[in-house]
Amino acid sequence: MLGRKTIFTLRTILFILIIGIGVGGFFLFDSPNEEVLNTSDDIQEQEPIDTSDEKEEETTIESPVYKDPDASIEDRVTDLLSQMSLDEKIGQMVQPEKYNVTPNDVRQFGIGSILSGGGAVPDENTPEGWADMVDEYQLEALDTRLQIPIIYGIDAVHGHNNVKDATIFPHNIGLGAANDVDLMKQIGEVTAKEVRSTGISYTFAPCLCSPQNIRWGRTYEGYSEQPEMVGKLGSAIVEGLQGLPDEQDFLKEEHVAASIKHFVGDGLTYNGIDQGDVSEYSEEELEKHIEPFDEAIQAGARTVMISFSSINGLKTHGDYHLITEVLKGDLEFTGFVISDYNGAQQIVPDDFEESIKQSINAGIDLFMIPTDWQEFITTTKQLVEDEEVSIERIDDAVTRILRVKFENGLFEQPLANRALVAEGVGSDEHRALARDAVRKSQVLLKNDNDILPLAKDNSDIVVVGRKAANIGFQSGGWTMEWQGSPEPDLTEGTTILAGIEEVAGPNSSISFSTDGEEVSGHDVAIIVVGEEPYAEFEGDSEDLRLSDEDISLLETVKESGTPMVVLLLSGRPMIVTEEIDKWDAFVASWLPGSEGAGIADVLFGEHPFTGKLSYTWPKNINQVNNHDKSNPLFPIGYGLE
Ligand code: BGC
Repeated sequence: MLGRKTIFTLRTILFILIIGIGVGGFFLFDSPNEEVLNTSDDIQEQEPIDTSDEKEEETTIESPVYKDPDASIEDRVTDLLSQMSLDEKIGQMVQPEKYNVTPNDVRQFGIGSILSGGGAVPDENTPEGWADMVDEYQLEALDTRLQIPIIYGIDAVHGHNNVKDATIFPHNIGLGAANDVDLMKQIGEVTAKEVRSTGISYTFAPCLCSPQNIRWGRTYEGYSEQPEMVGKLGSAIVEGLQGLPDEQDFLKEEHVAASIKHFVGDGLTYNGIDQGDVSEYSEEELEKHIEPFDEAIQAGARTVMISFSSINGLKTHGDYHLITEVLKGDLEFTGFVISDYNGAQQIVPDDFEESIKQSINAGIDLFMIPTDWQEFITTTKQLVEDEEVSIERIDDAVTRILRVKFENGLFEQPLANRALVAEGVGSDEHRALARDAVRKSQVLLKNDNDILPLAKDNSDIVVVGRKAANIGFQSGGWTMEWQGSPEPDLTEGTTILAGIEEVAGPNSSISFSTDGEEVSGHDVAIIVVGEEPYAEFEGDSEDLRLSDEDISLLETVKESGTPMVVLLLSGRPMIVTEEIDKWDAFVASWLPGSEGAGIADVLFGEHPFTGKLSYTWPKNINQVNNHDKSNPLFPIGYGLE
């Protein structure tokens, strides 16, 4: 959590210094909530929007159409837009991060949206704590002249993963192995309900990338390397999250707005570098990666997040063709387009104004601009006054944002539903679904002499490795913190070890060894190895071999002569070609989340292994590239039953 904040704060400071030197001005930047002072001529000093009574009297209409729930959404949007000042419109276009904006700012600047990035949690990380925080902002939004509610967004990417004791589902790579449309719908529904239980109505999910190079640190966010599967599973979870477009509770009540991301090509960068350049794809090949977005939009997806990456050197955040012509034009997308975290400023790294101009003109509507939102407001106003950005473009952006807000039910139910908040998160029912997802996600890659399934009730098993008793490891990145955490008790859940103890039956003997020493004589050793938690660029890797710690653990167990069942916790296939021959069984467990007992269910034959690889499993690192997937260790679709 702090990692991300610190990284971005440092970047911000660097950015400010560069700009400061460039324009010969100076800045004061003490606390995020203090105004950024800028003496340069081309950036005006920020003023709060005009909320004076005088203006109110002049413009307030007694029973405006936009407040009428029976009026059509389009009429409501048109009516509201017609009453908004330029300041109010621009306010709707910003999404600061909760650390950098106060409830008072929301009222003063008419801010339209707030986000919690990974780990940006309230002091009290409980459903009530979240709902109170969001409501506090919301009440200020409702105190503005036009009473336009904020839309609060969060990354609920494998369950409501920032919220303590929420149900944590397997990361998407595991759900791709499960490849089950009904399961995806149910996961969407449960996740939406848990999000609503904290007073939030918008999630930045699902990721519709189809990663081609598993060096990429976000590989686990993709269901599959095949866009067809991504489109199918992604659309299903969108339907679960949002409900169905022709039903009355679409986006409302226990549903949330989804953000399909990251448009487009984020899994195709050269060398798998996060936020890198897509340089090896023809237009036709790229189109295949647009198809999952098309499918999800047809399933009703109402927001789209733009990719940090660039295509042949052009940052997607500034790509008019892709955003306006393809997404809003060809794909007929009528919801809003959101930028990624400070993504717009990357277009021309040392020129904030130019970046903002290009990104608005490219077609971005809502700006995830965690820190520099005041500068965004000032800059955008100036750009409109200078006719660098047209008022029509601003109106298009605000129309789309308001449309989704109306659809989201925010005008009728702006505050948290306290009955849902009281129900809380992480119910037994929700955890049972997650456990089922874990079972279905396990891929059996090797099973010599049918060592699996293990016998129940009379086995003598040793479980090996610290990762076997650790909720943090099994959950991976985007869990409680942006990068995840190796904390054993990170959040409520069942570890793999606890699951084995539960499922093995009362007459089995289960012992646990963290170092693998003295494990001879047992019927079988279940060794849990895998990657440390990571997210985004922190997970980019040149080397996908097991860690030295894991290799030495495996060697130690091998020396004991005890038959070995190896479980790999990882966000992608790893290079195990040299080690696998020494193992009796090998299971790709991915990042299963909070319900580790689902793994025990398949190890002991309570449920069959049904998971299949949704990615090619390479033999060596030279096979890890964007295009050639031939002669792998295991082909896509592989999985023993
Ligand atoms: C990620 C997005 C995420 C956003 C907000 C960005 O760094 O790329 O996927 O939704 O942060 O946390």
